[in-house]
Amino acid sequence: TYVVTESCVKCKYTDCVDVCPVDCFREGPNMLVIDPDECIDCTLCVAECPVEAIFAEDDVPADQKDFTALNAELSKVWKPLVERKPAPADADAWKDVKAKRHLVEK
Ligand code: SF4
Ligand code: F3S
Repeated sequence: TYVVTESCVKCKYTDCVDVCPVDCFREGPNMLVIDPDECIDCTLCVAECPVEAIFAEDDVPADQKDFTALNAELSKVWKPLVERKPAPADADAWKDVKAKRHLVEK
């Protein structure tokens, strides 16, 4: 499966959802996650994300490993997002911020 990591937090550009053939992105208040039971490992979303938030499960960086479980957990409660929508107005101000996992809203 593929995993959305910290870079997505407060950016939520949603370019990724447009290419997903199985609509497995789920939307939270300020980030998206991928439902690991639906993702077919097509890889298409990886290149779409402007902040490189998406990794194959085996390639998730060491300091981001907890996001694998977070995607699994939150994908069961968040609703599908199947079409791109405008990013938050302040998304660009957050795109280079590295430490923002504490800001994930559930
Ligand atoms: Fe969707 Fe493919 Fe990305 Fe999985 S790897 S989330 S199937 S676009
Ligand atoms: Fe997040 Fe990147 Fe998609 S910022 S919403 S994973 S395009």
